[in-house]
Amino acid sequence: MRTNESSLVTLLSDLQIVLIGGAGGVGKTTTSAALGVALATQTTKKVLVLTIDPAKRLASTLGVDELTHLPQEVEIPGARGTLFAAMVDMKASWDEMVVRYSPDGETVRKIVSNPIYESISTRFVQSHDYIAIEALYEFYERGDYDVIVVDTPPSRNAIDFLDAPKNMEEFFASKLLRWLTIPRKSKLVASAFRPFYLVAERILGSAFVEDISEFFFDFQQLYEGFVARARLVTALVSSDKAGFVVVTIPEEIPTTEAIYFISEVTRRNFNLSAVVMNRSLPESIFSRASDELADRLSDESQDVLVKTLDVIGFTSSEKEVEIASMSQLASRVLIEMANSYEGLKNQKVMEEIQISRLPLDDSIVYTSTQQDRDVASIESLIKLALNMSPYR
Ligand SMILES: Nc1ncnc2c1ncn2[C@@H]1O[C@H](COP(=O)(O)OP(=O)(O)O)[C@@H](O)[C@H]1O
Ligand SMILES: [Mg+2]
Repeated sequence: MRTNESSLVTLLSDLQIVLIGGAGGVGKTTTSAALGVALATQTTKKVLVLTIDPAKRLASTLGVDELTHLPQEVEIPGARGTLFAAMVDMKASWDEMVVRYSPDGETVRKIVSNPIYESISTRFVQSHDYIAIEALYEFYERGDYDVIVVDTPPSRNAIDFLDAPKNMEEFFASKLLRWLTIPRKSKLVASAFRPFYLVAERILGSAFVEDISEFFFDFQQLYEGFVARARLVTALVSSDKAGFVVVTIPEEIPTTEAIYFISEVTRRNFNLSAVVMNRSLPESIFSRASDELADRLSDESQDVLVKTLDVIGFTSSEKEVEIASMSQLASRVLIEMANSYEGLKNQKVMEEIQISRLPLDDSIVYTSTQQDRDVASIESLIKLALNMSPYR
């Protein structure tokens, strides 16, 4: 397999953590998997692709039954290294975290059995980013893999992912949390805010307000462990062991999002390792040779038609009638093809425009080609991985 100086795999070779970011639907999950495949085929590394996206599709693309938080080996024909894939399980990660940071078993039991816990651990969307980073840290710390490729969650805003540890830390120190825990902490203070809690209880029900208060009171006991960990995670993500790969497609809006993401990555002094322009059109179809071929096809269509009719056994007069009607059809088809060809050319121009908008050195821009169908098998991932190449 190809490993040249400028390949994306070479560019990422010093990293232990590769974080994939970008707008929704641009191909983050696909690119994460393709990069995993590329690393496992072109190096001897043990690679883990960690996804948060619970898309069933990825499992079937990788040829595994189901993705769980237990890494499963992915069979890649001819690979020099090994590839594993896992999916972050929100609920299991929350449980692990509560156990890890609770001062004692009693606190664990109280938190986990609180009815609020269920909603928090499954529906508290903002926490998903944090959990993803936590799970990453878990795998990193265990040291079983040479490199972990992280497919970032389909969050409302990719930046939340970068700030997840800080946001969690802030949440612990927030006024909101203090307010929520007042009734549990002090009857006296709570009575001072009685009108507020009366309204809250009337709207939410007193049992609910009590559960919330109880929950966050217990939850606060995790603070120290949580915050210490959040700082370690931030330090890891900011270190030179980790790098971001931003994915985009040749369109205005996703590229605007990518540009924003890039500026946020650099503003935080994180490593920006590469930008992947996914769904790129291959250069080759716009070569002079293809232009000439297109011309020739349209010029020689009459000849082709005549030869075909000869083979079918038409007489000269029949042929003339047939050629007259078919050449009309043929020219319509050719005009359509020419239009599509022009359309593709415009698309390629659009791609150039979007790449030129990126506020960085072209040397870290890579293209990943548009496939003629969805990337849905290990073969198609290998193909995609092989075709990732430097833009310049
Ligand atoms: N280069 C490509 N060529 C063809 N289809 C692609 C390509 N990249 C991604 N896709 C398809 O686009 C869809 C969205 O990709 P996905 O990786 O799930 O995006 P994201 O994770 O960013 O939401 C999937 O159906 C995937 O197979
Ligand atoms: Mg995805």
